[in-house]
Amino acid sequence: MEISVIGAGHVGLVTGACFADLGHRVVMVDNDAKRIEQLKRGAMPYYEPGLEELVARGVREHRLAFTTSLKEGVQKSTIIFIAVGTPQKSNGEADLAYVEAVARSIAQHLCGYRLIVEKSTVPVQTGHRLAQTIKTYLKKKHPFDVASNPEFLREGTAIQDFMKPDRVVLGVESQRARQLLRSLYQPLGVPIVVTDIKSAELIKHASNSFLSMKISFINAIATLCERCGADVQQVAEGMGLDERIGRSFLNAGVGFGGFCFPKDLEAFIKISEQLGYDFELLKAVRRINEAQKGSVLEKMQQALWVIKGKTIGVLGLAFKPNTDDMRYAPAIEIIEGLLREGAMVKAFDPQAMPEAVHHLPTVKLCRDPYEVARHADALAVLTEWNEFKELDFARLKRLMRQPLIVDGRNIYDPQRLQALGFRYIGIGRGTLEPH
Ligand code: UDX
Repeated sequence: MEISVIGAGHVGLVTGACFADLGHRVVMVDNDAKRIEQLKRGAMPYYEPGLEELVARGVREHRLAFTTSLKEGVQKSTIIFIAVGTPQKSNGEADLAYVEAVARSIAQHLCGYRLIVEKSTVPVQTGHRLAQTIKTYLKKKHPFDVASNPEFLREGTAIQDFMKPDRVVLGVESQRARQLLRSLYQPLGVPIVVTDIKSAELIKHASNSFLSMKISFINAIATLCERCGADVQQVAEGMGLDERIGRSFLNAGVGFGGFCFPKDLEAFIKISEQLGYDFELLKAVRRINEAQKGSVLEKMQQALWVIKGKTIGVLGLAFKPNTDDMRYAPAIEIIEGLLREGAMVKAFDPQAMPEAVHHLPTVKLCRDPYEVARHADALAVLTEWNEFKELDFARLKRLMRQPLIVDGRNIYDPQRLQALGFRYIGIGRGTLEPH
């Protein structure tokens, strides 16, 4: 099938490359000429495992092309996916200006039936606004449909999440749209949930908010564990074996970040308010997440007594492993807090160093975890990269001014580190420190 994807970002580029890999002819459209040039050269705008090879294969087999011309994208395809950014406005609402601008442009270039599909995460009722906008700006009366097909891609596993999703959600309101999208996703061989457009839009926000709630729930349990001396990892284990609960997204840590959960949570709270419902539960999820980042600073303060003048080493800056993305990363707020207290901060991240230069200009960026540890009064793990799990702890101990580890992602065994001579502080790993 002929497909165009508008917006070559974390969602659009993966979506286009995967559709091309499934045999479709895909035109990737982006108004950022630099990004299009970069993609034509085979360079990826961000790190995503497997994406570079997938794009190269699509280009080599002439199934994936890049252009800044939205007209070309509209005229060369039957299905148009809108995958442009929906960033957060200062009042927390989703900024739909890019979506609306694309809808207007599509209307001006329509030259026959097209199915326009919302792929970006958008507030419920956006689909109908999209249809109204296209109708308003249509040059000639061409038939079209609008549909919602929310993505559930996680950065770091986006290709696998596209090719082997738990489900595909199709929000449609015509037989033609249903058939087109069904035939597109049938080859994946997974459950396809067909709903109306509004329900599909809500499934996305409700799913992300529920996952955020799971994380804040276990982080709240971690706080209780610290107060009573229980171990949140064991609690999560015991809870997670109940298939109604499930073990995933029950890892206590420094809180959730990324360009989805914080933004989508904010947008969902806002939409609910606009619909006359005060979503207090989600406000508590947000509050717990904010407090979680603050608790790392408190732990550091408690362990060091005075942070001012101390050297703090940080391992991990990306908002999660296997990505270079630092947008809304907990590490940013935590490090800014340490800097405000007068600490000198050194950091390393396997992928996010180029991003860190923009986000944390005053932090000393190091080549590896051992350079970070040199002369450090404490070492904080903020992203659970695999390469931090088996460090040479004897070497770390020799390099550090004092052997204090704040394990923000609970990747270490407290007993093992204490046996190696470290003071260990985790998240919810029993009492804050052995008395
Ligand atoms: C998320 C959703 O998972 C995905 O379905 C949606 O399409 C986009 O948003 P993503 O933001 O890429 O994906 O990352 P995810 O793996 O969900 O993690 C989000 C944040 O939650 C990260 O900061 C991660 O560290 C944190 N997290 C995740 C926890 O703190 N504990 C957990 O148990 C799981």
